[in-house]
Amino acid sequence: MRSHKLLFSVLMLLLVVFGAFAVGAQDNSGAGLTIGFSQVGSESAWRTSFTNAVIAEAEARGINLLFSDGQQRQENQIAALRSFIAQGVDAIILAPVVETGWDEVLQEAADNGIPVVIVDRNVTADESLYVTRVSSDFVHEGRLAAAWLVQATAGQCNIVELQGTVGSSAALDRQQGFNEVIALFSGMQIIQSQSGDFTRTGGKEVMESFLNAVDPSTICAVWSHNDDMLIGAIEAMKEAGIDPGQDILTISVDAIPDIFQAMLDGDANATVELSPNMGGPAFDAVVAYLNGETLPRWIPVAGGIYFPDTAAEELARRSGS
Ligand code: AHR
Repeated sequence: MRSHKLLFSVLMLLLVVFGAFAVGAQDNSGAGLTIGFSQVGSESAWRTSFTNAVIAEAEARGINLLFSDGQQRQENQIAALRSFIAQGVDAIILAPVVETGWDEVLQEAADNGIPVVIVDRNVTADESLYVTRVSSDFVHEGRLAAAWLVQATAGQCNIVELQGTVGSSAALDRQQGFNEVIALFSGMQIIQSQSGDFTRTGGKEVMESFLNAVDPSTICAVWSHNDDMLIGAIEAMKEAGIDPGQDILTISVDAIPDIFQAMLDGDANATVELSPNMGGPAFDAVVAYLNGETLPRWIPVAGGIYFPDTAAEELARRSGS
């Protein structure tokens, strides 16, 4: 009888030990999954570092990543999604170029039982058509940018605005957040506004047209929806004999290495950070969904605001030097 009890205790112990080992060894990395990633394009330095971060994260986890560069065209991204569906991927990660026009292809993914995680920009499609969205709060970014400019100019400023890609949630929401805040100050107004499509060349061309359209001495600040367009605008200002960062203040979004260099050169005043590290949370969301977990509708990615006082250390940190 005593030996039976002993045997029972040993068996129970083994069950507990093996059970704990099995739980500990459970793979939540996504290793072995095939995931299609439809990226917007390569329009900005931020976008490139986001792409690189997702690819590196997939490699580290042993995920078979099918990557497609949409070259800023929605039709390319829809074709990529259809190709992922035809290949029977385990999941799709979509960074959409614009907000609207995704319902049909997302429905096709759902009909084929393929979960979709939205990253970075938003879509207007029915929420039942995707698992969750991993992204920053673009409205907050716009508010943060405006709040800094209000305090830097004591609420008196003629602003020229470089908008991002037309119809993208990054442009629409940043504009909304910024405008909400400046509307509270009668001395703050946007005097010129146009899209530079989130590119350096676009930012430069649009800034040149602003400088021709109005007397440059009446411009107090340039508000750019991303750093790349601002880098282009800085070139345009310099070529026009204007001292950017002094004659015309600057505020932009992304926090890429080049903007910190521009701060060190005295050409830029502030940037709102957009983290490119969304691959990890997106893959985690896919795995959690496939494991039957319930996910929040939105998984936020945080960012701060940066100024020249920390530019040297931020440049070193973000350039990996
Ligand atoms: O959607 C995020 C925006 O897209 C980034 O701010 C910009 O650099 C990119 O093109």
